[in-house]
Amino acid sequence: MSTIIYAHRGASKYAPENTMPAFELAYKHGADGIETDVQLTKDNIPVLIHDEQLNRTTNGKGFVKDFTYDELKQLDAGSWKSYHYKDTTIPTLDELLAWNQDKQLKLNIELKNNIIFYQGLENIVCQKLAKYNMTKQTVISSFNHDSITKIFDGKVEIDYALLTGRHNKALVPYSKKIKAKGIHISYRLLSNRLVTLANDNQLYVAVYTVNSSIAIKRAIRLGCHALFTDVPKLAIDIKKRR
Ligand code: G3P
Ligand code: CA
Repeated sequence: MSTIIYAHRGASKYAPENTMPAFELAYKHGADGIETDVQLTKDNIPVLIHDEQLNRTTNGKGFVKDFTYDELKQLDAGSWKSYHYKDTTIPTLDELLAWNQDKQLKLNIELKNNIIFYQGLENIVCQKLAKYNMTKQTVISSFNHDSITKIFDGKVEIDYALLTGRHNKALVPYSKKIKAKGIHISYRLLSNRLVTLANDNQLYVAVYTVNSSIAIKRAIRLGCHALFTDVPKLAIDIKKRR
């Protein structure tokens, strides 16, 4: 088994996170997949942005949920990283899926609904993945563990994983109970014991956010199914050398 290298928010060390240039760069750097965060606009358009508020990664202010997509697309989502990216906008989930049609990268869509409640987010995302025929290569995750149990609606079948940064003895039995495919954990929680326990229960382990050579090598050595990194080129190079 070869560890899947997901570009975390795209190649986010070098390009503005969760934007098309960051996804494009991840593709150029040979990433196996893209990890991204999805939220809903006021008019229920799924957009790719990590924070619930616009302040850090755009020239806007306030909550994503309080703006229509037409309003959000006026914002500059690139200059905060570098002036070179000044014309970059917040992408929609549709843009990513359309862009991926000819690339067929793996996708990890994180539902950013652990702080803000987005009515129907699960269903909207599943329908989009079905529309673009990208259910098979996608895993959905969320820190909101109630939310991911709503992924399977009986029609569209998509893998989902529990996302957590906290120690919890019930992690493996709970993930199994809700029929998750895997657990996505903070690197701090990674241990040989956890990987073995998860694998013995037919669950895979993926780790975030792994940016140093030492951590990338350890994640691969311990048999992580996937890792999330801001520097996909480094991780791919390490994987190739092994
Ligand atoms: O999905 C892994 C990782 O992206 C979760 O944390 O805060 O980077 O979205 P965060
Ligand atoms: Ca994320």
